[in-house]
Amino acid sequence: MRIYREKDYNAMSRRAAAVIAAQVVSKPDCVLGLATGSTPVGAYKQLVEWYKQGDLSFAEVRSVNLDEYVGLAPDHDQSYRYFMQTNLFDHVDIRPENTNVPSGLAPDAREECARYEQTVQELGYADLQLLGLGRNGHIGFNEPCDEFPVATHLVDLTESTIEANARFFASAGDVPRQALTMGIGTIMKARKILVVASGADKADAVAKAFFGPITPDMPASILQLHPDVTLVADESALSHVVEAEKR
Ligand code: GLP
Repeated sequence: MRIYREKDYNAMSRRAAAVIAAQVVSKPDCVLGLATGSTPVGAYKQLVEWYKQGDLSFAEVRSVNLDEYVGLAPDHDQSYRYFMQTNLFDHVDIRPENTNVPSGLAPDAREECARYEQTVQELGYADLQLLGLGRNGHIGFNEPCDEFPVATHLVDLTESTIEANARFFASAGDVPRQALTMGIGTIMKARKILVVASGADKADAVAKAFFGPITPDMPASILQLHPDVTLVADESALSHVVEAEKR
């Protein structure tokens, strides 16, 4: 695993954007696995800037997003489709038909999971999968559980995730209780993985995920078994790693 230790959120964002840009430049028709959450926002902003300066094009890129809330329409301002449109897709030359996000409104969520898994499989899985980290170590919406879920599936969100994401909704009661998410197997099939983490509230998850035991109770810990993982984090997110490395 390669770790980039950056001094703050801005530096972390630029470094993460550079890793994504390198992928796009080296393979213009690559499949990018994309993530939502507040952590990657700065990286997306940087990518948009490079696109506007004429340094980067997404014209041939295909994208697959990790997850979506059940029950939110694509134009709901907290849906992950809306997030992707407003933070990246609407500002670059990616073709709308080349972007994939699970549908939160599908009448049969399990059928939608199967359809989505097939879409990702037909695209050959991600060349580069971007991941944020939940405070409890979740990736996508793979919450701590008894075994690693393989394929795209329907999940009940944990109270800790609902609470963490409540800041984006009017109240915790408005946060959807379920989501569709790529499975751990789907994520692990990506050729490269880029994890971004920022802030002291991720320090524990970062240390446990990358230096603790591999267990479905800390879903991101499975990444220790992936052959090509890059972690881009700021100093506060890495603050527990020094001690973890010594153990
Ligand atoms: C959500 C998303 C994850 C994301 C996590 C952390 O739960 N499903 O993909 O990594 O939030 O979000 P943030 O970056 O805002 O801390």
